[in-house]
Amino acid sequence: MRAAAPPPGSAARITCGDVAVAVFDVDGDLVAFDDRCLHKGGSLSRGYVRDGTVTCAEHWWRYNLRTGERVGSPRLCLRRYPLERDGDAIRVAIPKTPVGPFDA
Ligand code: FES
Repeated sequence: MRAAAPPPGSAARITCGDVAVAVFDVDGDLVAFDDRCLHKGGSLSRGYVRDGTVTCAEHWWRYNLRTGERVGSPRLCLRRYPLERDGDAIRVAIPKTPVGPFDA
C-alpha cells in the first residue's frame, strides 16, 4: 500500500483491507507496526508519541518504536512491516501470511 508519510514526531494510520498499520516518524526514521495494541487492541496510531516511544491512549501501555517491544516487558513485541520511502510518500508491504515481529 502507498500513503503519505506522517509528519516528524507523529503517527499515521494506514489500512489495507482488514489490516491496520501504524506508521511512526522517529527522529526522521519511519517505522511501521501493526496498529493494534497488544493489551486490548487500542489503536497505537492514536497514541502519544514521545522520546522514541508510543503510549497507547487506552490504558497507557508503552512501546519502544525502534524495536516494537513493550517498555518493561520486552518479550511482548509488536508486529513490524517492511516500509520504504517513495518521495513524500511511503510504501508498506503487507505479507499475505502472518510474520513475526522482527521479520521486517
Ligand atoms: S488497549 Fe492499549 S493499553 Fe490497553
